[in-house]
Amino acid sequence: MSEIKKFPEGFLWGGAVAANQLEGAYKEDGKGLSTADVSPKGIMSPPDFSMKDFNLYHEGIDFYYTYKEDIALFAEMGFKSFRFSIAWTRIFPNGDEQTPNEQGLEFYEKVIDELVKYNIEPVITISHYEMPLALVKNYSGWKSRKLVAFYENYAKTLFTRFHKKVKYWMTFNEINVVMHAPFTGAGLLFEEGEKNDQDIYQSAHHQFVASAFAVKVGHEINPDLQIGCMIASMLTYPYSSKPEDMLAAVMQDRKTLFFSDVQARGYYPSYMKNYIEENDINIVMEDGDLETLQENTVDYIGFSYYMSFVASTEPEHLKAQTSGNLLAGVKNPHLKASEWGWQIDPVGLRTVSNQLYDRYQKPLFIVENGLGAVDKVEEDGSVNDDHRIDYLRAHIQEMKKAIADGVDIIGYTSWGPIDLVSASTAELKKRYGYIYVDRDSKGQGSNKRIKKKSFNWYKNVIATNGEEL
Ligand code: BG6
Repeated sequence: MSEIKKFPEGFLWGGAVAANQLEGAYKEDGKGLSTADVSPKGIMSPPDFSMKDFNLYHEGIDFYYTYKEDIALFAEMGFKSFRFSIAWTRIFPNGDEQTPNEQGLEFYEKVIDELVKYNIEPVITISHYEMPLALVKNYSGWKSRKLVAFYENYAKTLFTRFHKKVKYWMTFNEINVVMHAPFTGAGLLFEEGEKNDQDIYQSAHHQFVASAFAVKVGHEINPDLQIGCMIASMLTYPYSSKPEDMLAAVMQDRKTLFFSDVQARGYYPSYMKNYIEENDINIVMEDGDLETLQENTVDYIGFSYYMSFVASTEPEHLKAQTSGNLLAGVKNPHLKASEWGWQIDPVGLRTVSNQLYDRYQKPLFIVENGLGAVDKVEEDGSVNDDHRIDYLRAHIQEMKKAIADGVDIIGYTSWGPIDLVSASTAELKKRYGYIYVDRDSKGQGSNKRIKKKSFNWYKNVIATNGEEL
């Protein structure tokens, strides 16, 4: 490893967001209700179909109306890319229509045109943690095979409309989330104590096939498209050098890698085939599914990285737990944690980048990373978020080292370049942005945008292509 290695020319610096966490306008211009619209406690929590409680996602940060002003700020920072998701419900309000809602397509066309105007590469997530509520109610979510065709039609509609302007795509955000929060990722509802592997694995299979069909149809429409998977990386360390701890870490990692294995290599790995058989899980497949997976692997590996995990076989260690976005885990005595208990581990980003590249030899795209923290507006109007700068600097340094190790990383889009509603807790108290939004968790505030200290810091990082951190 040499420190001299620089970020490649054309490296895609930018930021990442998701439709339901910032757009608001939840009923505008023909949009249907999505799973986020009935999740007032966060899209990782059980939904409330009564819709009686205040739901911060309904207004988000009003990006639906402020996208021009917000994109101008991203452009001022020098963004080379902007990752956002499309709300499925703006295009197909119930998910099962044949004809798309033109108003929804027009909105995203305007967003894309605005980005292109500033030479910002749009990067689109086709489904980010939400889906039409009607697909949950009428089809039981991704448990139903029917969703494969609905999703394929949705993805085809997007590729057809936007392929000339948008090169980079991702099929499902954090596809492995189905294992941990089955409603969020797959619209699966379980009664208390009824959560089961059968439905989860069947849904995952449907998503794999849907993703592979999207890759197929996207490449047919335009062979230049780069269509990736997106996993929530969950690098696991053994708590100690005890062989059993190491084995436990390997096993825990497989719960994540299974998803990228199928999407990047094109087949179910033997460890998973054995698990499925041993646990009497019966994945119903249609003729041709395995060929579809094999023939339509992803072009790159997109992943989020916020924290690392620890596996232990000692009951004593298992007691000390810490929280995270998807699951709680064993506390790592070597790491500090964010105010929300997420363990901060920049070196882990280098390790996981090496792990994924060694395994797949496909380009990596780090599409989420960042620090959720409370920010304070000072009397003079400034927001001094040095904590965020420290976090990002340390992670970018490690990303640079990973590139020096030989890993092909094509871009870095930090999470929430503008403050937005959190996914796990539906609040605005927890902020990720370079741009402060004057709105609180009750939806109160002027909605004014304020540049934080990190705004100019990141601007310089991009201007120097990562040389000045
Ligand atoms: C990722 C999700 O898991 O974590 C994002 O893809 C989410 O949607 C991000 O916002 C941070 O989590 P949170 O709960 O702090 O918003």
